[in-house]
Amino acid sequence: AEAHFEAGVLRGKRILVTSGPTHEPIDPVRYIANRSSGAQGTAIARALRSLGADVVFVTGPADVPPPDGVEVVRVETAAQMQAAVDAALPADAAVFAAAVADWRVASASGSKIKKKDGALPVLEFAENADILAGVSQRISGRPGLVVGFAAETDDVIAHATAKRARKGCDWIVANDVSPETGIMGGSENAVFLISDAGVESWPRMAKEAVAERLAARIAAALVS
Ligand code: CTP
Ligand code: CA
Repeated sequence: AEAHFEAGVLRGKRILVTSGPTHEPIDPVRYIANRSSGAQGTAIARALRSLGADVVFVTGPADVPPPDGVEVVRVETAAQMQAAVDAALPADAAVFAAAVADWRVASASGSKIKKKDGALPVLEFAENADILAGVSQRISGRPGLVVGFAAETDDVIAHATAKRARKGCDWIVANDVSPETGIMGGSENAVFLISDAGVESWPRMAKEAVAERLAARIAAALVS
């Protein structure tokens, strides 16, 4: 059974939430990005706020507006997201719901790349820093609870369990984003919560309901 909390249970707790995609420029008019509406991260920030937390919401260019009552930090690239996260710490907990681009274009062009006679541009990529892993592995200033996400298309639990160990976060919220699930871009989510205690399978429910349940679990972890 889920514990029930009064509205102010997270009052005085500072919680960082990342959300949305990042955009990595190719040139001034083009970019590469992950698919992410920002809906799940936004719902989590809103649910934490409604339990009384002071929420810092670091968001890439999302489809949905940020929740009311949170401190919004808008970023575009993964590098900007990392700088915003570093600036927002310390925090009591951090939830990394953003779909961060794994690669940026190594040398984005300052001017628009033009088509010329069928010659194709070749893009060279550089790997972006792993923001979640960096925060999870901090020696000092690590939030007491670090929650990552894992969007997978196969072997969801195995991949997410390995990801949790590799990155060093406390919990991973994992989901299956295979096209046939319809989860990507939809209003519902079906997740596994992976922690030291094992793997919990949550039934498919609205993203807002996932967010409320996760916020209640975060409250239980921070306030017990
Ligand atoms: N993440 C991050 N910084 C990155 C990449 C990912 O903070 N540069 C975070 C995401 O916000 C998410 C978690 O790490 O909470 C897992 O992201 P995911 O893309 O699933 O993990 P990757 O390690 O990038 O693995 P994959 O090769 O499956 O993309
Ligand atoms: Ca990735």
